[in-house]
Amino acid sequence: MTRTPPLLEVNALKKHFPLRGGLLGGITGQVYALDGVTFSIEKGETLSLVGESGCGKSTVGKAILRLIDPTDGEVWLDGARIDNLPASQLRPLRRRIQVVFQDPFSSLNPRMRVRDIIAEPLRNFGLAGGGDVDDRVATLMDTVRLPRDAMRRFPHEFSGGQRQRIGIARALAPGADLIICDEAVSALDVSVKAQIVNLLSDLQDELGLALLFISHDLAIVEHLTHRVAVMYLGKIVEIAERRTLFANPRHPYTRALLSAVPVPDPTARRDRIILTGDVPSPISPPSGCRFHTRCPYVFDRCRTEEPLLRDVGEGQKAACHLDELPALRMLPQAA
Ligand SMILES: Nc1ncnc2c1ncn2[C@@H]1O[C@H](COP(=O)(O)OP(=O)(O)OP(=O)(O)O)[C@@H](O)[C@H]1O
Ligand SMILES: [Mg+2]
Repeated sequence: MTRTPPLLEVNALKKHFPLRGGLLGGITGQVYALDGVTFSIEKGETLSLVGESGCGKSTVGKAILRLIDPTDGEVWLDGARIDNLPASQLRPLRRRIQVVFQDPFSSLNPRMRVRDIIAEPLRNFGLAGGGDVDDRVATLMDTVRLPRDAMRRFPHEFSGGQRQRIGIARALAPGADLIICDEAVSALDVSVKAQIVNLLSDLQDELGLALLFISHDLAIVEHLTHRVAVMYLGKIVEIAERRTLFANPRHPYTRALLSAVPVPDPTARRDRIILTGDVPSPISPPSGCRFHTRCPYVFDRCRTEEPLLRDVGEGQKAACHLDELPALRMLPQAA
């Protein structure tokens, strides 16, 4: 029996940016932005990629979109390898994978009317012409719950949330199977954030879209995502179904991130874990487990031996030596 490939497969992806310096501008080091990232996304599935600033989330998105070339590893779309496609063959990829960025204002051309912004990908990919264009744009306006008369207006006439709806309509226009949302709601007010998250969730149901939802905020993904991947310094340290991850986080870093997420039930509480120390530099990541310099449970082995991302049951994977020492897992959470 042949296995249906996932929509997207990212395999051992690496991106090292050369650091230039000195008088002659030679290469003096590397920024290890991604150091072996592996995950997949099924059709119609949302995977959230979370972690602190600088851990490599946007670099994952850019490598999938081929806005940057990976240093190593593979990216597959529907069973076809896309990370090594020559520039001349990127067109179909540009149609199938779309992106919505954090700041819709800078990604929407201020001199174009909304109609033309949304019509542009339709024309570019030869998906509509003549009178069809207005019909398609009007339908997309309905899809993202914007009034049709907004078509005649310019981006500056809209609020942040509405602009993000325009950005989503443009991403939907070419009929993409995967939308990468890179901090797409991070700059919005709390209530608007929730509206856009609900819209994305509805669209996913209606259109069978797959989403890679990139966010530094674990709280925002709880109502949207099927699975969560937690990144730390260029690596995934834990990946699991949403419910499993929120109920039973295995990696101390996931626990620390989760401890900052408010619990809706006032009688329940999570002990807050405050991480000490700064995120280490990706130019010289710590030896062994990259999290060991900030981990409340660190022991000798963590400093020398890198923990692999291992199955810990029910599709949950974690990269932590603690899981091999069940007794230690019983330690109280750090204050
Ligand atoms: N073009 C580049 N040249 C050199 N270093 C880069 C480049 N792009 C990103 N980096 C570095 O790679 C690392 C990962 O960056 P990335 O933008 O992927 O992080 P992020 O998780 O998206 O962070 P944020 O939450 O702040 O958006 C950072 O240390 C960043 O400084
Ligand atoms: Mg980013």
